[in-house]
Amino acid sequence: MKTLWKVSLAAALLVGGVYLYADDDEMEHARPTQSKPLSKQDQSAAALYKKECRACHMAYQPSFLPKRSWDKTMNRLDNHFGTDATMDPADTKTVKNYLMTYASTNDRITDMRGGVALRISQTSHFVREHREISKKMITQSAVKSIANCNACHTKAEAGSYREREINIPNYGRWE
Ligand code: HEC
Ligand code: HEC
Repeated sequence: MKTLWKVSLAAALLVGGVYLYADDDEMEHARPTQSKPLSKQDQSAAALYKKECRACHMAYQPSFLPKRSWDKTMNRLDNHFGTDATMDPADTKTVKNYLMTYASTNDRITDMRGGVALRISQTSHFVREHREISKKMITQSAVKSIANCNACHTKAEAGSYREREINIPNYGRWE
């Protein structure tokens, strides 16, 4: 009985997960979750990614950027947005491989000038999606930077960016 309950709960969560992202069609290239479950090996790579790359900001979902973006970022961690984010070479390889595996397959994701996008926040789709947000909402101390996704998207770390989950500090929900 107990097991049955657990199984149906897991099934409900799974279906729920699929449903959650099914309405994000226009966000095609920005869809932040993987539809296929991670293999054991990929799970440990994902954990390593979170451990290493979440020291200074949230662990952005790999599917926000295409392969060539992650490739470039992982090849120049010593010069990472004004900081040094280098780590053990073997770990770098594992994390890079993980990011490349789950990267977006949409190679049209570029920066505003058509070059390789290093920032999610400077891709044209992102900029368009966030154009109505005022400067003050971003520069306030509770947010500081548009790269601080989880300041406004309360479930960003879990890979969910639905509108009803947005809560901008000191401004509230986005209507
Ligand atoms: C030592 C601190 C540090 C570590 C460790 C770090 N980063 Fe960063 N990262 C930064 C800073 C600083 C920025 C710029 C943030 C801003 O503009 O507000 C940044 C920005 C980014 C951005 C662009 C965000 C956007 O869309 O504007 C990506 C992508 C990124 N980092 C990926 C990674 C990955 C992958 C790792 C792990 C390999 C990593 N970071 C580890 C400091 C770090
Ligand atoms: C200052 C608050 C704020 C920050 C920081 C922020 N966002 Fe947003 N984001 C919003 C708001 C508000 C919207 C809805 C805009 C609209 O509908 O006009 C939005 C929309 C989105 C959407 C589209 C959701 C949908 O269902 O249409 C995605 C995806 C998204 N943001 C991802 C990100 C990512 C990734 C980051 C960090 C790199 C980020 N956001 C940083 C406020 C923020």
